[in-house]
Amino acid sequence: MSLAVVILAAGQGTRMKSRLPKVLHPVAGRPMLEYSLQAAAALGAARTLVVLGHQADRVRSVLPPGAEAVLQEPQLGTGHALGQARAVLGDACDEILVLYGDMPLLRAGTLRALISARQNGPASVLTARLPDPTGYGRILRDGAGNLRGIVEEAEATSEEKVITEVNCGIYCFQAARLWDILPGLPRHADAEYYLTDVIALAAEQGTPVVGVPVGDPDEASGINNRVQLARTDAVLRQRIRERLMLAGVTLLDPSSAFIDDTAVIAADTVVHPNTFIEGRTSIGEGCIIGPNTRVVDSTIGQGCHIVFSVLEEATLEENVRVGPFSHLRAGAHLCSGAYLGNYAEVKNSRLGPGTQMHHFSYIGDARVGANVNIAAGVITCNFNSETQEKYPTDIEDGVALGSDTMLVAPVLVGRGAVTGAGSVVTHDVPPETVVRGVPAEAVRRVRPRRSSASSASKGLS
Ligand code: UD1
Ligand code: CA
Repeated sequence: MSLAVVILAAGQGTRMKSRLPKVLHPVAGRPMLEYSLQAAAALGAARTLVVLGHQADRVRSVLPPGAEAVLQEPQLGTGHALGQARAVLGDACDEILVLYGDMPLLRAGTLRALISARQNGPASVLTARLPDPTGYGRILRDGAGNLRGIVEEAEATSEEKVITEVNCGIYCFQAARLWDILPGLPRHADAEYYLTDVIALAAEQGTPVVGVPVGDPDEASGINNRVQLARTDAVLRQRIRERLMLAGVTLLDPSSAFIDDTAVIAADTVVHPNTFIEGRTSIGEGCIIGPNTRVVDSTIGQGCHIVFSVLEEATLEENVRVGPFSHLRAGAHLCSGAYLGNYAEVKNSRLGPGTQMHHFSYIGDARVGANVNIAAGVITCNFNSETQEKYPTDIEDGVALGSDTMLVAPVLVGRGAVTGAGSVVTHDVPPETVVRGVPAEAVRRVRPRRSSASSASKGLS
């Protein structure tokens, strides 16, 4: 059997009341369509087609290589959508699994069960028993329990409306039978062709259609509005927490750890309450993250300790300490053993191994060497408001920058140099030189120190 997965994602999602197409709304950090694509990939489908319509170009841009976009224009219903996929597929596959782009809680195991339940029949349908079936198509069964068809809410009689078994909208079809039936679907009062009608037409041909009840009703919930979006997000995040805890990550207050599906966290890391770990973030072993910390698209090596801080597109090597109340922005790179204290901001800069920056400092567009001591209130003046340009600062190994040093870029502070408190450095500082004043002038050579590393860590602060 060769399997094609067809994901229907052409609808507008009117009830979201959004400029963003529904299937691109993020759920636990991924556009919801990605979960359907992941499920398709887990099944090892020979072909994966995504039917697009509303804002097709925008949705197409998130498709992975290998997923084929099919345009449905105009959008005349779920039956019509599958017809467009048929035109692209031809007779390439003999089994067709239909998914929606708005059901991120579906598990691949459920889909496998649906596929194997079909056996040689024309179709299998995923069903769910919901206490409140409002809005869903209802499953019609005959006296013997065989599936007779599906009726949509709008067309259901009052007896049919009390049926609590609903159509999840996920089907596995034998391709030949499906392609045979599809062109003959009736058009409904709303001018649409319903894929659900295939079930009654197949059942009429005498071979039974199998209804497969889903074990976990959460899996059946589609997202149509923002209330359902919030509920689905909560369920998915709880799954992520459990996956991580079972893999050796401690979450001290699981309900207040918000971790995206895209994040990777190694064992023996402890996540403290009220912490957000987002996007393409990876965190190594034995870290302590939080409380009250937000980490976005960042790479953190093992043994790091981050408290009450915000990290965006930052890289931390091993055993780095950050916070409380520090802000690492895009391109911040802290080498092993670097230490950032409170109210420190680093942007697009590399801080070498063992460099310390404890209080109220800003380093931007800079290269800072190893074992540099950055005392309170040091600032790289990297932006020239007259030229509207940013300039680089170079601070070499073992430099000690005194409190309130202003480094007016572009500027270089040579190896082992020292700046006095309040220096405004407008010219390059030669190595092993003490400068001081406004603008900073050389006053003498640095006195011999026992070792540059130990003097740097004491600094002038
Ligand atoms: C559909 C089912 C209903 C089922 C419910 C489960 C039909 C007629 N009804 O209703 O029985 O209980 O799903 O959630 O199928 N789409 C297209 N092209 C179109 C129309 C829709 O690609 O022309 C896509 C949408 O983007 C969406 C999916 O098909 O991903 C379902 O469409 P939607 O309008 O949400 O169907 P429901 O009314 O929820
Ligand atoms: Ca729907």
